Amino acid sequence: MVAAGLLVLSLFTLALGKPLSERLVVRSQVDSVPRGFSYVGKASSEHMLNLRIALVQNNVTGLEAALYDVSDPKSANYGHHLSKAEVEAMVAPAPETVQKVKAWLGKNNITAQTISPAGDWLSINVPVSKANALLNADFNEYTYDKTNTTVIRTLAYSVPETLKDHLAFVYPSVHFIPPVQKNTPSFQVVDLPRNSKRSRSKRAGVPASCDKQITPQCLQALYNIPTAPATAQGNSLAVSGFGGEIANKGDLSEFLAALRPDAPDGTFNAVSVDNGITSGDGTTEASLDIQYTVGLATNVPTTFVSVGNKNQDGDLSGFLDIINFLLAQDQPPLVLTTSFGFNELAFVNQPDLAVNLCNAYGQLGARGTSILFASGDGGVSGPQASDACDGQEFEPTFPSGCPFLTSVGSTQGINPEVAASFSSGGFSNIFARPAYQDDAVTAYLDKLGTTNAGLFQAKGRAFPDVSTQGVQFVVDIGGQGQGVSGTSASSPTFASIVALLNDQLLNAGKSPLGFLNPLIYSSGAAAAFNDITEGSNPGCGTDGFPALEGWDPVTGFGTPDFNKLLALVTGSATASSGAAGNATVTATTAASTSSAAATKGGAKKHHHNNN
Ligand SMILES: *[C@@H]1O[C@H](CO)[C@@H](O)[C@H](O)[C@H]1NC(C)=O
Ligand SMILES: *[C@@H]1O[C@H](CO)[C@@H](O)[C@H](O)[C@H]1NC(C)=O
Ligand SMILES: *[C@@H]1O[C@H](CO)[C@@H](O)[C@H](O)[C@H]1NC(C)=O
Ligand SMILES: *[C@@H]1O[C@H](CO)[C@@H](O)[C@H](O)[C@H]1NC(C)=O
Repeated sequence: MVAAGLLVLSLFTLALGKPLSERLVVRSQVDSVPRGFSYVGKASSEHMLNLRIALVQNNVTGLEAALYDVSDPKSANYGHHLSKAEVEAMVAPAPETVQKVKAWLGKNNITAQTISPAGDWLSINVPVSKANALLNADFNEYTYDKTNTTVIRTLAYSVPETLKDHLAFVYPSVHFIPPVQKNTPSFQVVDLPRNSKRSRSKRAGVPASCDKQITPQCLQALYNIPTAPATAQGNSLAVSGFGGEIANKGDLSEFLAALRPDAPDGTFNAVSVDNGITSGDGTTEASLDIQYTVGLATNVPTTFVSVGNKNQDGDLSGFLDIINFLLAQDQPPLVLTTSFGFNELAFVNQPDLAVNLCNAYGQLGARGTSILFASGDGGVSGPQASDACDGQEFEPTFPSGCPFLTSVGSTQGINPEVAASFSSGGFSNIFARPAYQDDAVTAYLDKLGTTNAGLFQAKGRAFPDVSTQGVQFVVDIGGQGQGVSGTSASSPTFASIVALLNDQLLNAGKSPLGFLNPLIYSSGAAAAFNDITEGSNPGCGTDGFPALEGWDPVTGFGTPDFNKLLALVTGSATASSGAAGNATVTATTAASTSSAAATKGGAKKHHHNNN
């Protein structure tokens, strides 16, 4: 009935000689103001909104297939990462899509800017009144109560029916996402220790003090991380920072002088996205992240990407912008670590943006970047401990639930090394479990039995994938030692190990590791990790999940052993570096590379060609 009425109305306007008004269809709506937000009042009609328009990407299925094709050690194309152009061809919108959406905007006197290298994102600036008319929306002011941050959002919006297969979604619109959480739950002032040759604990070569506080030396000893400087050309590691976080070079120098006297000259390059700051007094999160990448991935060129909040629209815009910034690079970093995340619950009713971001991580992975995220610090209750879910379903974190990245949880203690209770883990409510983790996860679920039944989505993507120490990392902030804890400490640690593995691979003329999970979950790979079988991640009024033998949603497969990982990756990394940038064209020679041969080859220096 409604449709018929609209049809009549359209013919009527046509008969009057006015432009045929477009029939609109609701694209997204939420039933009520989401948890944690309150309505404040009408937004001023002149207030300018920066809206991003996601266009339908032409071949996301192909992207996913290509990502696995180059990331699965069993694949003939393992390591033959895609070029920038190849990835862009898969996510670029069809020409018709661009033409139709731009024509619609043009008809409304709106000029769009293209803001992603593949052309799948447009940006427009319009006053609230125009946005309301264009999208049949009702943009109003809401606050996120906890931080008293104001956002302008609508509970529903529509797009012309003729665009429904072309315009994927508009952001921000119905997205009520709490501000990003840094995963640093706690810190306390500690003495900045000097590198010690003091008593050793039972775990061979590990200083006994590592039970109380963690230094680079502890991690090197625990995980067999090499101390020798990396030498490969073309290696790189990037750390992302949001919310005004910045690392200070003086603090880093002081930290290295005290704790890496063998490698005191490490430094980093700071770059800005969205007017992010690149110098200033060090803040906790960024200092931790930089001191445990530069301090561990010795001599690997390291960049701090400081993402500002240019459009005053929350950190999620920054999450989009940093990815488009990196995708625009001819040689994106080979490793990216991020210690910020969100409660996935905020995305569940409107998963469009989460899915788009996840696919963007897949694009970088297909090009050869290993993407690491801290799993979160609230156990099963989200990125930070919260009682909001007591008696209710567990709250997984985003982006850790995305299957195209590697999520890193935390452990603590040396003898034994056990799960850190804050280590977030669980099962996504948005992303289905990827095939690569079927065996590991079903084995865990079988052991778990009915524990926590009904509180999590057993078919969801399970996380974390791996873990490292995460408690009482010594960090230098303004000359003062702080002991910082959280999965924020673990993601940079694991990222550094990946960067040092890449050093060996590049020097052996092989491809960098890229998307790690198909390798991590491959048969036999679990033996390269120290299995963590004690502890759990309580939350939501429960004991959370127990760490058990094998993979578990607290510590993943456990903590890394560099030497075993090196044997694993040199045994399976068969692609030659020349193929790295031109996957599908270069002939595959599954060169026989026993780990012994590869290790010898590691002494030679080859240039990694990533073009
Ligand atoms: C999508 O990408 C795959 C590569 O994974 C390719 O084989 C396929 O032809 C592409 N499909 C389209 C419609 O472009
Ligand atoms: C677009 O601008 C033209 C010229 O300024 C004006 O006549 C027209 O009404 C505008 N259309 C819309 C939809 O704002
Ligand atoms: C919240 O912010 C508004 C201004 O944006 C201010 O007027 C109000 O007092 C703040 N409320 C609290 C509780 O801080
Ligand atoms: C990469 O592939 C393109 C064809 O798609 C070819 O023109 C180019 O020469 C190749 N580059 C390398 C380095 O093999």
